[in-house]
Amino acid sequence: MKQALTLQINGRSHELLVEPRRTLLQVLREDLALTGTKEVCLLGSCGACTVLVDGKPALSCLVLAVSCRNRQVTTIEGLARDGELHPLQQAFIDKGAVQCGYCTPGMIMAGKALLDEHPAPTAAQARQAIAGNLCRCTGYAQIVDAIVSAGGASGPCCGGVPAQPALAAPYLMPETGE
Ligand code: FES
Ligand code: FES
Repeated sequence: MKQALTLQINGRSHELLVEPRRTLLQVLREDLALTGTKEVCLLGSCGACTVLVDGKPALSCLVLAVSCRNRQVTTIEGLARDGELHPLQQAFIDKGAVQCGYCTPGMIMAGKALLDEHPAPTAAQARQAIAGNLCRCTGYAQIVDAIVSAGGASGPCCGGVPAQPALAAPYLMPETGE
């Protein structure tokens, strides 16, 4: 049976009727047409569906929409302001960190969470931040470069070392938010 649900997404309130089994990813893409968040593995393995829930990266394919009641959800659509890209979005363009683009929204959201916590991250911190995000195109170096440059950090960048997908990525656990 559907439940009434209010979701706060990108600073706007949305009144919805949602079946409890539906994921945040489904509601974002299918009910709200926020298709910037990508659907790929649906298994929590690729990071393409990453959004921020209360400022922390979360895999929206594993999070039930109803668990986001009273939480602030930020998607890739929420980053640009007044027609201007977020500096991290611009850095992805400037550094050539976008190829097919399928991983890009998730990468940017993971990077944004890092920048919010560490405004001038190191390359190691950037690699750790995207450890749960897979990219089949870029080889990761440009993505790390973009995140570091968006933070304005100086010094050596990525060194061409690919990020290693790891279980230690700082993601919210599904449903509980813990
Ligand atoms: S779609 Fe791959 S982790 Fe969610
Ligand atoms: S740019 Fe194609 S998967 Fe990352």
